[in-house]
Amino acid sequence: MQFNDASVRQLRKAFPALRRKHGSREAVFFDGPAGTQVPQVVIEAISHYLINCNANGHGVFATSIESDAELERAHQAAAEFLGAADGSCIAFGNNMTTNTLALARALGRTWKAGDEILLSGLEHDANFTPWYQAAMDAGASVRVIDINPQDCTLNQQDFHAKLTDKTRFVAIGCASNATGTVNPVAEMCAAAKQVGALTFLDAVHYAPHDLIDVEGFGCDLLACSAYKFFGPHIGILWGKRELLESLQPYKLRPSPNELPGRWMTGTQNHECIMGTAAAIDYLAGIGRSLAEESDLERRPALRQAFAGIREYESQLCSRLLSGLAQISDIKVWGITDPQDLQRRFPTVSITHARYRSQELATRLADAGIFVWHGNYYALPLTERIGVEPDGMVRIGLVHYNTTEEVDYLLSQLAEV
Ligand SMILES: Cc1ncc(COP(=O)(O)O)c(C=O)c1O
Repeated sequence: MQFNDASVRQLRKAFPALRRKHGSREAVFFDGPAGTQVPQVVIEAISHYLINCNANGHGVFATSIESDAELERAHQAAAEFLGAADGSCIAFGNNMTTNTLALARALGRTWKAGDEILLSGLEHDANFTPWYQAAMDAGASVRVIDINPQDCTLNQQDFHAKLTDKTRFVAIGCASNATGTVNPVAEMCAAAKQVGALTFLDAVHYAPHDLIDVEGFGCDLLACSAYKFFGPHIGILWGKRELLESLQPYKLRPSPNELPGRWMTGTQNHECIMGTAAAIDYLAGIGRSLAEESDLERRPALRQAFAGIREYESQLCSRLLSGLAQISDIKVWGITDPQDLQRRFPTVSITHARYRSQELATRLADAGIFVWHGNYYALPLTERIGVEPDGMVRIGLVHYNTTEEVDYLLSQLAEV
């Protein structure tokens, strides 16, 4: 298989939701950054769990034993998805926000007055306020890396200026859910390490578009959410073993003190954990088809999948950006230089000279094009670039979108 219009049309058949009609046309799902659709295999994995081994953990009877074994396999799948060695360093939880609030509460216990916490101005608020609040509780100071407003990239000079020997912790996003900007996280983590700071990466927006690699990124902690990469609504947290073992999470007395249980409070969403493993295997399946190697192992298969996805999405992005550039009333926020597309994902936020974001999104919705409007919780960014309170309209493409859909959107925007 190669990524092209024909193979994407074929691949879309795996997603029941994509069959939805709006009038006589197929609905256009450009809302991926707020949550992607799921392939049939994910739906089946969830039902399979509920039908066959639905039980609480650590019992001595058959369904509980089977459930524990399935869950362990899912932890391993998630570890491979993130490029981590050890499934027990993966904690599932409600969503990225809840996982991050819990982690911030535990990390904040190690901070004190005089410590500096370095955050980024390009973030979703889930990678900002949890740290901010924990820093305030601990009496630590917060510094914020500024952005370059002309292209919504992180200002690297400002980052280096604000990274000092007082910096205890740095939290950055791998990619912006508003402008699609991809950050040079490996270099930033290496610099943070040099001053002895811990690093946390928000990989929520990165996960559907490129291969996460906790080893290669050199981070200490990373979070993402399966519902953004074709899985169900559940969050994933990874951390280095020594850190997850030494930090003290807020937890109940009878809950385990070992990994991963100490970070997974209360009864878990077992069926969605199974759905997550199925989403990872769906992606690995794409990689096997691209490589034409049906027995390729999961991690190399994921690498192949994302190489194909990245290239295909870049083509869509380039078509979208050049089309938008022809429409005089539209401003694109973020990187628009066609030579610079490797620094962005196909998540494109726009504003219109005459229409408010909600009006524009409503017009597109009437045409069967589903896009998000507002700030999508990327409040540190939207405040900085001055688009509050209306925000922007976000066109979010993933690998199941097509050139035909991009052209249809452009024709609708031109008519507006
Ligand atoms: C970049 C980014 N970070 C964090 C979050 C929060 O994730 P969750 O909804 O899993 O809490 C989102 C959700 O939109 C996001 O896009």
